[in-house]
Amino acid sequence: MSSNTSNEQVTDESVNETDGTSDGAIIETDISVDRGSSHTTGHTETIVRAEGLDVYYGDDQALDNVTIEIPEHRVTAMIGPSGCGKSTFLRSINRMNDRIPAARVDGGLHFRGKNVYDDDVDPVALRRTIGQVFQSPNPFPKSIYDNVAYGLRVQGKADGMDLDAAVERALRGAALWDEVKDQLNESGLDLSGGQQQRLCIARAIATDPEVILMDEPTSALDPVAASKIEDLINELVDEYTVIIVTHNMQQAARISDKTAVFLTGGELVEFDDTATIFEDPDDDRVENYITGKFG
Ligand SMILES: Nc1ncnc2c1ncn2[C@@H]1O[C@H](COP(=O)(O)OP(=O)(O)OP(=O)(O)O)[C@@H](O)[C@H]1O
Ligand SMILES: [Mg+2]
Repeated sequence: MSSNTSNEQVTDESVNETDGTSDGAIIETDISVDRGSSHTTGHTETIVRAEGLDVYYGDDQALDNVTIEIPEHRVTAMIGPSGCGKSTFLRSINRMNDRIPAARVDGGLHFRGKNVYDDDVDPVALRRTIGQVFQSPNPFPKSIYDNVAYGLRVQGKADGMDLDAAVERALRGAALWDEVKDQLNESGLDLSGGQQQRLCIARAIATDPEVILMDEPTSALDPVAASKIEDLINELVDEYTVIIVTHNMQQAARISDKTAVFLTGGELVEFDDTATIFEDPDDDRVENYITGKFG
């Protein structure tokens, strides 16, 4: 099975991607795993499953035979050196790679048991169910209110619903309501970087997705703003599944339940509970990467 749907009509501008540069990996040998047990106990269903997933850009292979089962209502972190395919993996989950003409996908990528590359899957609808937040906050040049209402309006759901209540709910869900409730008609671009990123999270959750993909969502933010996003992610998993790419290993250790380590060549080398990855990994290459000897 393969996919290259460059002729697909994409109308949802919320999927515009800002491909910024990566933040430098913060490598420390002593990484403590802070994630409490609240989310790590108990079994949850697999929501996203890759099976022998290969992704190519032209002749270059970016992901090599990736097999992984990602649990719902958990935070799963993707870590690994620059160029190892983390963003490519994230983009393959909601078919953002379709927008890259050279990209080709082989193998299976299943969302709740359905292969998202099947012919009958509408990628635009898929991206509503599997939303995303990018490295650089990218609010639309619209009011705060209109940023959040955008997805509902595009879907035609805004008529006949209490849009004000939906906007408030999304802004509360993104821990932004109290800061912006008196300026909903002001431009989203006038917010601070951290507020803009929470606005983008509000925009993503307004349409009630099941999964939120985040590609280095805090790397453009100062530590205080980044910390607020981390706290928010911790809350979001009550309702959503979060899959996050980060270069910051402390961040992965702090906020994720599961960690996947990719290494150069697009190989998923190890996937396990975050505590196991950071404290007792199986693979020497993972240990070397985490302790800064590699990557
Ligand atoms: N649009 C593209 N066209 C061609 N090759 C690409 C494209 N995007 C990524 N690649 C290549 O695919 C490989 C994986 O890239 P990807 O961006 O997924 O890595 P990454 O792990 O997210 O890296 P970083 O940590 O720097 O963000 C790299 O060799 C990269 O050069
Ligand atoms: Mg990347």
